[in-house]
Order: sequence, then structure tokens, then C-alpha cells
Amino acid sequence: MAVGVITSQESVTQRLKVTGGQRLSGTLTVSGAKNSALVLMTASLLTSETVELVNVPDLTDIQGMGDILGALGVQVERSDSRVSLTAAQLTNAEPPYELVNSLRASFFSIGSLLGRMGHAKVPLPGGCRIGARPVVEHIRGLKALGAVVSVQHGIVTASAKGTNRRLKGAAIVLDCPSVGATETILMAAVLAEGTTTIENAAQEPEVQDLANLLNVMGAKVTGAGGPIITIEGVQSLHGCRGYAVIPDRIEAGTFLMAAAITRSNMCVEPVVPEHMNAVLQKLRDCGCSLEINGRSIQITPGEIVATDITTQPFPGFPTDLQAPFMALMSTAKGTSVISEKIYENRLQHVAELQRMGAAIRVDGSTAIVEGVSTLSGAPVTGSDLRAAAAMVLAGLSATGTTQVSGLTHLDRGYDNVEAKLRGVGATVERDGF
Ligand code: EPZ
Repeated sequence: MAVGVITSQESVTQRLKVTGGQRLSGTLTVSGAKNSALVLMTASLLTSETVELVNVPDLTDIQGMGDILGALGVQVERSDSRVSLTAAQLTNAEPPYELVNSLRASFFSIGSLLGRMGHAKVPLPGGCRIGARPVVEHIRGLKALGAVVSVQHGIVTASAKGTNRRLKGAAIVLDCPSVGATETILMAAVLAEGTTTIENAAQEPEVQDLANLLNVMGAKVTGAGGPIITIEGVQSLHGCRGYAVIPDRIEAGTFLMAAAITRSNMCVEPVVPEHMNAVLQKLRDCGCSLEINGRSIQITPGEIVATDITTQPFPGFPTDLQAPFMALMSTAKGTSVISEKIYENRLQHVAELQRMGAAIRVDGSTAIVEGVSTLSGAPVTGSDLRAAAAMVLAGLSATGTTQVSGLTHLDRGYDNVEAKLRGVGATVERDGF
């Protein structure tokens, strides 16, 4: 795996010291999308040939996924942002509990294992701080494709019926547009016999990226990115070379908000603007002007004013940017209403922002944020991946120094964040304690 990747153990005892009040300038570079790269890696299980991905971000979660696939017998080779995966000889179809439990996306491998091997035994992914994270939709979809699925002792066992152990295409309607369920069913259906339709499918760009990779590998998927996806099952898939992971829209949004909260004129690239329309609209609504040139966005913050958001499935405002946007609204002029509609417990960053002087009141899954003129630096903790990012943003804008711990979360989703921020003039140091 890559040299220089922070190991998850190191992240536990480390924190970022952020010196606030500094203007940033220059260009922040966006890495490949974590939530796409992880699922694209599991798609390699669907073929015995090599799948090579490029623009893969340098994250502990990517390392973790490599370890999980390696435990199944996949040959994983990584150099910089290139990852080659060869599932020629799968030794087993049971990813180890201790690895799956910490990496939800690895559960999605149940779809590709079932499609390729005809059986799979995958531990239930744990819930996490932001919510219960059920996988009911994933299991309903696999059963609709003809798999026998049971859940015992925290392990999901799935197997295709019939002599050829091949799944059968089906018409599936999701109760909720779950990203993971859509991806799991997609990977199970590409090698099934006959046609599968997924209605009420998740429309996130990461779902589209997976469908695009599968088609490059010889699958027949249409409609991804819309509410109805159609899959014509094929006999087998082949490998591919140099498939580029899409840029991370959540990292890009986080960086745009870093510019806005420090009132800095900056450039963020590469981005795919159509993956971020709801976010770009809210940045304009709250007082930023944005100049889009191809895959590059120039942001010029004006006076930042209070703006309401409600998190929704794509193409609505993404839940993963709710915490960073709340940090930005903490110093906006006026009062914002922030409603979290995707997860039942994703407002834990409120308490940490309050420690820095933010004036926020929580009513159920809604936060009422009354903007203050400045935040003040303090020791804070990121309770989940995006909350940790929000605390870094708050630290960039606060007076004094902010110590952000909870880097285990941050390093899962942000590739070398302090090096990137230092590159645009921020004073950010990682140290042990
Ligand atoms: C993906 O999680 C992302 N993770 C999440 O990013 C992201 O927040 C989420 O999609 C929504 O955009 C990865 O792709 C690895 P869901 P996923 O299934 O697939 C409910 C980050 O910070 N639900 O769409 O697990 C569920 O409870 C992470 O990068 C059911 O009710 O999300 C939740 O409320 C956090 N039943 C909502 O749907 C089910 O069977 C969204 O879940 C499945 C989900």
C-alpha cells in the first residue's frame, strides 16, 4: 500500500492544531471520491481479470478495503493513486468481522461475491454514531434476485439457488433510495440471468461511477443516475485498465466552505459541477460568487448571510456536507435553520461548535444557528468523519488555536488534509498528545 498513509492507530493519538484568522489563497486540489473508490474496489470481485483504478484517494479506508479484499484472496497492488485488483483465485467468500465492522462499504461486497461465487457470508456492518445504518434494503434486493439470505449471530449468509448457482433478474422497488443498497443490488444483478430493474434507486454520482465501471467491464447497465436502473445480465465480466475514480464532491464542498468561512478568494479543482448543484446553489445563496471553468471553481465570498438547508438524497443537499455547512453558518449574518433528514443522530458536532462560541439550538433533527461575529479556538473532537472536517473549518476561522482530535475519522475521508490546507496558507500542524 502507499507509503506515508497515516495508519488508523496513529490517528487515535493525534490531533490537528489549527491557527485561526488567516486568509487562504491559491488552489485546493480535490482527490478521488472515497465513496466511489471503495465500492469500485469491491466490483473487482466480479471478474478473474485485473481491474485497475486510478485517481484513488490516499485514505485509511482505502487501505482497509485493500486488506479486506486481500483476505478474500484478491491480489491488491497500489502505487500512489493507482490500485490494481485481481480476483483470479478467491480463497473464500467470508470477509473477516473485525475488518468489515469498521468499514461499512465492505458490506456491499456481498453483492459482488454473490454474483461471482454464488454464495457469500458477510458480517452485518455495525451501526455508527450517526445512526443505525440498517441493511434491510440490501437483503430485500438480494432475496428478490433469488438468493436465500439468513442473518444469524451478526452474519449475513446469502446463496444463489439452483444448480448453476446463478441469480435471476427481478423487478425491485426500494423503500428508500439507499446508496449502498442500490450498489449492492447492481453488483449482484450484472451476472444474473435475465433483466433486473431497480426503482427508487439512489441517484448519487457514486452510483453512476459504479455503473460506468461495470459497463467498461462488459456489463449492460442503463439509467444509473436516475430513479430507475435497468441491468441486462451477462455471462461474465472482464477486467479493465486505468478507470479513473470521479473527483470527491464532498471533499470539494468542504474545501469551498473552507474558503467561505475564512472569506478567502480561492480555486478548488478538479470538480464535476453537475455533481454539486445543490451545494453550489447554497454557497451562492449565502453570499459567495462562484466562477466555474470546466472542472475548476473560483470562489469569491461576499458577506456571508444565514441560509437554510435540509439534507436529502441526491440531487438534494448531501448529508455529508451538513456539518461543514453548519460551521460556515455559525459565523453568518442572521439565523439559519439546518434540518438533517437522512440520519437520526448527525448533530453531534453542535456541542463542539458551541464550545467555540457558536450559538446553536437543537430541536429534534433541526439545528437553529444564530450567527456570531467570531468563534474562539478551543480543544474539540470530531465525532464522525464530516464533523471532524467541520471542526477544522471552524478552527480556520476562529480566533486563537483550535486542537481537533478524532483524526481517526478525518483520515478515513480526507486525503492528507493538513498538507493541502498548508498549501493554501493555513497554519495546521498534526501532533501527538
Ligand atoms: C453512503 O452510505 C455513504 N457511504 C455515506 O457517506 C452517505 O452519508 C450516505 O450514502 C448517504 O448519502 C458510502 O458510500 C460508503 P444509505 P450508505 O444506505 O449507503 C437509511 C460519509 O461520511 N437506510 O443511503 O450506508 C439509512 O438509515 C458516509 O462519507 C434504511 O433505512 O447510506 C440512512 O438513514 C457517511 N434502510 C439513509 O437510508 C436500508 O436498508 C441513507 O443510507 C439502508 C439505508
